Amino acid sequence: MTTPLANDRLLRALLREPVDRTPIWIMRQAGRYLPEYRATRSKAGSFLDLCKTPELACEVTLQPLRRFPLDAAILFSDILTVPDAMGLGLYFESGEGPCFRDPVRSLAAIERLPIPDPEQELRYVMDAVRLIRRELDGSVPLIGFSGSPWTLATYMVEGAGSRDFPETKRLLYGEPQAMHALLQKVATAVTTYLNAQIRAGAQAVMIFDTWGGSLTPRLYREFSLAYMQRIVAELDREHDGRRVPVVLFTKGGGAWLEWQADAGADALGLDWTIELGEAAARVGDRVALQGNLDPAVLYASDEVVRTEARRVLDGFDRSTGHVFNLGHGIHPGIDPDRVATLVETVHAYRAT
Ligand code: CP3
Repeated sequence: MTTPLANDRLLRALLREPVDRTPIWIMRQAGRYLPEYRATRSKAGSFLDLCKTPELACEVTLQPLRRFPLDAAILFSDILTVPDAMGLGLYFESGEGPCFRDPVRSLAAIERLPIPDPEQELRYVMDAVRLIRRELDGSVPLIGFSGSPWTLATYMVEGAGSRDFPETKRLLYGEPQAMHALLQKVATAVTTYLNAQIRAGAQAVMIFDTWGGSLTPRLYREFSLAYMQRIVAELDREHDGRRVPVVLFTKGGGAWLEWQADAGADALGLDWTIELGEAAARVGDRVALQGNLDPAVLYASDEVVRTEARRVLDGFDRSTGHVFNLGHGIHPGIDPDRVATLVETVHAYRAT
């Protein structure tokens, strides 16, 4: 278990330690843009079968690393496995995204929600983490993850993905104490889940707050950031003698970076709506930054990919504390050859 890492650039950059070059990984790096992913998925049956079969989750986790010299693997799973384990009944309607059979809309339903035991109801995730670590054999670090309590709550209350979050906002504004009860419970479940991933072998963890940007500044602090802060404070930040860095990512949260930088995480994920240099100036030396190429750049030519990737790299004017990534997940229609060009460009880059 204690094989030293051959490539620890990601962990070093997240902790703002010196690196020989900027590390890169890609949100949703295992996914439908890869033909080998589509093949494994059709063999498995459904996306959820893929998540719930550790051997297959391990296989698709490793697929992008066989193609590209990425500096990290990310566990193949989904943020919605936690509410599924809380009994909501996750399923994916083809072409419609995720749905829950039993959404949670009342204080009584919230109070009935169990906190899942990660080594029982979510054992398939922990088994996948252990298997991936074994297969990686110390080549690159493995990133674990969870959704933020707020983002998970939007799916749990709506019962599906949403653009306007009508039921969630009704609960938040109408019965704020019920919303807090839900977020408390989910935060406890997430803390337990992430600590179990760390024990199983995750070497960095990321919290995805995909829908934090739908809140007002005041409500973001009270209903999203406060719970992420609590989770970060309760994580086991060291394993096998090495610090386990934590990354917070609020999509659409660029206006609130100073608050995020004070939440106790090691790094912040950025979407593409803010310049890296401006973000760095605002957070100072409190955190490292991860991001933030517009994923849609990958629809353009190799030449544009190179130019735009260098523009992102040029924007970060410090020697360490940057992990290159997209500002959100890679789109399913992207040609893998553009990704090869992107990884090559980031690795070849030297700040002048
Ligand atoms: O980054 C990675 O490679 C790790 C795997 C990963 C997935 N989902 C796989 C996935 C991660 C980190 C997630 C997180 C996730 N899941 C988030 C937060 C990050 C983000 O993208 O904002 C959210 C909001 C979800 C919920 C979810 N899962 C949605 C809305 C969907 C449908 C979207 C779509 O593209 O169809 C999923 C399904 C999902 N999760 C897929 C993958 C590869 C597509 C499944 C498939 O059809 O094969």
